[in-house]
Amino acid sequence: MKKRVFSGIKPSGSLHLGNYLGAIRNWVADQDKCENIFCVVDQHAITVDYEPAALRQNVRELVGLYLACGLDPAPCALFVQSHVPEHTELAWLFNCVTPMGWLQRMTQFKEKSDDLREQVSAGLFTYPTLMAADILLYQTEEVPVGDDQKQHVELARDIAQRFNHLFGETFVLPEPVIRKVAARVMGLDDPSKKMSKSTTSDSHGIGLLDPPALIRKKLSRATTDSQREIVFDRERPGVFNLLTIFQALSGQSQEEIEAHFAGKGYAQLKGDLADLVVATLEPIQARYREITSAPEQIDQILAQGVTRLRPLVEATMTRVRCAMGLR
Ligand code: TYM
Repeated sequence: MKKRVFSGIKPSGSLHLGNYLGAIRNWVADQDKCENIFCVVDQHAITVDYEPAALRQNVRELVGLYLACGLDPAPCALFVQSHVPEHTELAWLFNCVTPMGWLQRMTQFKEKSDDLREQVSAGLFTYPTLMAADILLYQTEEVPVGDDQKQHVELARDIAQRFNHLFGETFVLPEPVIRKVAARVMGLDDPSKKMSKSTTSDSHGIGLLDPPALIRKKLSRATTDSQREIVFDRERPGVFNLLTIFQALSGQSQEEIEAHFAGKGYAQLKGDLADLVVATLEPIQARYREITSAPEQIDQILAQGVTRLRPLVEATMTRVRCAMGLR
């Protein structure tokens, strides 16, 4: 039996190398071994300020990138969260069984609400119950994500467990699946912060659609340190981050990479890494241009995703509504 896998990305800005290495690339690598469900989580993107037209555009771009990175609509159901209204229905039901204290402990909420202060929406606070609904609606076994989403997936598991305890066995308990290499790619300008879609600095992240010259420029400016040796050392976060990206893209071992760079300088590291990043992204960008030139086909793939998932959605929701006394 194939494991059922669910994951999603928020269409809140341009996708970056962290999203690729921490998430999409791993989904693509395992898609033939699993029963796959991948979502564009548009309702999570509206928990902070946003522009409706930009959101619409970001959703299209993200679906195009899912396909361009190699997700195949035959083994994968691909869809947009808001096209399946049961996500928000289930999220409401989970809001009613999730203690406030569990949500108050979420580190992402704490970080974001510190930045936003009194502008924080109630939706940002209950973000994790919607994420739990995404995962649990499909009776998901595994959730492949980057390291920053681990706490949210664990919360989904806790909610499933609490629901099963209160209302009887209903949900499969999901597990986060996090790769060892590049589960947290850091910002090029500041390797103490994870690479993120929302940062405005021009030299922070590498966008999957960045042209080669821009990629080279950003990497040439990446923060390093005043030492010389090019080795994997977590105490030197700038160099460690560049080497980790190199490791993830080349598939070489740390020893091989250190041997390759022995006696060489940071300019060489940045140049070789830029070659590798460009060689990885160029074919993705070419496929992206081809795929997005036929938007009707993308709409069709998304509609098929929803149709395929319908029976699963109805089976879960019927059980949930009955268990909770709503039918
Ligand atoms: P999001 O959109 O921030 O990120 C999408 C995926 O990319 C991973 N990721 C990273 N991996 C490595 N290094 C980084 N710097 C980096 N930044 C992001 C994330 O871990 C994630 O796997 N809440 C989620 C979206 C979501 C979801 C879900 C995920 C909603 N419902 C259900 C899984 C299952 C989010 O905002 O991810």
